[in-house]
Amino acid sequence: MRIDKMLANLGYGSRKDVKKLLKDGAVTVNDEKVKDPKHHVNPEQDAVIINGEKVEYKEFIYLMMNKPPGVISATEDSQFETVVDLLEMEDLVFSPFPVGRLDKDTEGLLLLTNDGQLAHRLLSPKKHVPKTYFAVIDSEVTADDVAAFNKGVILDDGYETKPGELKILKSGITSDIELTITEGKFHQVKRMFEAVGKRVIYLKRISMGPLKLDETLELGEYRELTEEELDMLVNYEVR
Ligand code: URA
Repeated sequence: MRIDKMLANLGYGSRKDVKKLLKDGAVTVNDEKVKDPKHHVNPEQDAVIINGEKVEYKEFIYLMMNKPPGVISATEDSQFETVVDLLEMEDLVFSPFPVGRLDKDTEGLLLLTNDGQLAHRLLSPKKHVPKTYFAVIDSEVTADDVAAFNKGVILDDGYETKPGELKILKSGITSDIELTITEGKFHQVKRMFEAVGKRVIYLKRISMGPLKLDETLELGEYRELTEEELDMLVNYEVR
C-alpha cells in the first residue's frame, strides 16, 4: 500500500497533509526517512514512525458509545444529528456504522464498527443475541407482567414475541425494570409494555451479548473496545 494512502486512511490528514508530513521528514519506515508519497509499505510488517510515534495500523474499528437521547442511530440523516456525527475525525476515517438501532429517545450501549461480518453475525435474527434494557415504566409492574413476558406477548401488529426475561427492580407509581430480549423488532421494548397496558418513560440499553455498557462513559461519549471485550464479542456463541 502507498504510504500516503495508509496514513490518510489512518486519519493523519488528507493526502495533501500527508504529503507535507513526508516532505518535512516526519516519517520513517523501518528507521529510514521516507519522503516519497508513492513509497510502498506493508502496513502489517513495516515499522512506520511519525515524529517519534509508532503508527498502529488497523483495518477495523470497534467503538462502544453511550448513546445520548435526541440523536439517530444512523450514519446520516437529513434532519437530525446522528451517532456518527459524534465521532472524532480519527475514528470517522474508518467509516464505522451503528450495529443495530436504538430509538432516537433511547440511551445506552451502541456498538459502532466497520466490520460488516461481525455486525451481520450480531444482528442475525437466527443468532438470538440477548440485549438487556433498563427502563422506567409509568405504572406498577407486577408478577403477572413477568409471567406474560416469560411466555411472550402479542404486539400491536399481531406478532407474538419470543420470551423476554423481566426483572422488577422497583415497583410502585412508576417502576424500574430490566428486560432481556433476544429479538430486535421495531420499538420492541416499548411495544411489549404497551401489550400489557403500560408505557415506557425512559429506556437505556445496558448490554448486548457479552458486551456491557461502560458506565463511566458520559452520554455521547465513546471509546474503543478493549481487547478482552473484542475477544468476547468475536468468540461469542449464542446458546
Ligand atoms: N426497544 C425499543 O422500544 N426501543 C429501543 O430503542 C430499543 C428496544
